[in-house]
Amino acid sequence: MTIGVVGAGTMGRGIAQVAATAGHRVLLYDNQSAGLQAAMQSLNGLFDKLVAKEKMGRNDADEILQRIEPVDRLDDMESCNLIIEAIVENLGVKQQLFSQLETFVNEDCILASNTSSLSIASLAGPCDHPGRFIGIHFFNPAALMPLVEVIPALQTSPEVLEAVQKLITDWGKVVVVTKDTPGFIVNRVARPFYGEAIRIYEEGIADMATIDWAMKTIGGFRMGPFELMDYIGNDINYTVTETVYEAFFYDPRYRPSFTQKRVVEARRLGRKSGMGYYDYREGAAAPTPTLDEGLGHQIVNRIVAMLINEAADALFWNIASARDIDLAMTKGVNYPKGLLAWADELGVQNVFNRLESLYQEYAEDRYRPSPLLRRMARENQRFYS
Ligand SMILES: NC(=O)c1ccc[n+]([C@@H]2O[C@H](COP(=O)([O-])OP(=O)(O)OC[C@H]3O[C@@H](n4cnc5c(N)ncnc54)[C@H](O)[C@@H]3O)[C@@H](O)[C@H]2O)c1
Repeated sequence: MTIGVVGAGTMGRGIAQVAATAGHRVLLYDNQSAGLQAAMQSLNGLFDKLVAKEKMGRNDADEILQRIEPVDRLDDMESCNLIIEAIVENLGVKQQLFSQLETFVNEDCILASNTSSLSIASLAGPCDHPGRFIGIHFFNPAALMPLVEVIPALQTSPEVLEAVQKLITDWGKVVVVTKDTPGFIVNRVARPFYGEAIRIYEEGIADMATIDWAMKTIGGFRMGPFELMDYIGNDINYTVTETVYEAFFYDPRYRPSFTQKRVVEARRLGRKSGMGYYDYREGAAAPTPTLDEGLGHQIVNRIVAMLINEAADALFWNIASARDIDLAMTKGVNYPKGLLAWADELGVQNVFNRLESLYQEYAEDRYRPSPLLRRMARENQRFYS
């Protein structure tokens, strides 16, 4: 089976690596020849490192690398059985690419997009054979992150969904199937991790260092929200927030914050620019957290309740199964526990009560408990038996 990857940037080269490691011939294309060269160089360097660290033998590495063929022209992909697109995040440009691909690929070639924020239906829309179109969403870095969200569009045929689920599972990935709604699972359910942390800061309940300390030491998360936003890049994180907010028809619960907007406007983009929520320049002192256990628990309880509410609401709207929602957050963003399992552990009633008291306190739609959580609390139910 030959796999085509269009776009040899951060994601494309990672996807090419995964497919070639799984034994496929991979054709890699980019409309910038320099970009394609850079991708091949970086893949070579990466396998050199794996060999140096004795994670792989030289022969195996060479065989995998030989399976990745850079191609100069898009129509060199004629013989591909699956083509995954990882080009610029722009609807018109992506639609144009798929129209072009459809002029020469075989009728049974599956076409897929790695988009994070566009709807799969809108990409499949202009296709002559939309049934073969599907979303395959990898996480960065694609070779290391186990999760892949598979997103059938309204138009996707059941056979294509089944074939893709099987193929990506065979590549050693954890596959979750999600509805074609904004943010799919991970980028939807994770919003409060950032949003509620910023809200707590904006209200003056705690400073950033204390919020990060609490989420790590008490919550068990690998990184605090502010550290993580600085790591991702505040421009990227803000764009995701804004896109999800708009795509949900301006549901107030996804509303971006001024704090987030201002750091972007001030070009404090995070680690990559030397400054974000924190100062990464040489000699800068890291702020010290308050280390107040009581406050720490208050912070964690509030953010985790909001995350659980989001996960429960995704289940309420049948975005994915409970298992897949939990897997997505543990395998896609390294959460210490699945959020629905966490709800069971804390007691659904307790989580509901926390949310209900925030809702009463603020009288804001942002804190409305999911109808599912309300029902489960009333009927004393659990997510898992
Ligand atoms: N970076 C992430 O964390 C991440 C995670 C998941 C999904 N995604 C999605 O993956 C896609 C790619 O993101 P990225 O971060 O790899 O971007 P990137 O900017 O690193 O790479 C994009 C590549 O596509 C090439 N390109 C642009 N237009 C093209 C065209 N018309 N034809 C062929 N090549 C073209 C560019 O030259 C570039 O090399 C986007 O849709 C993005 O939303 C990104």
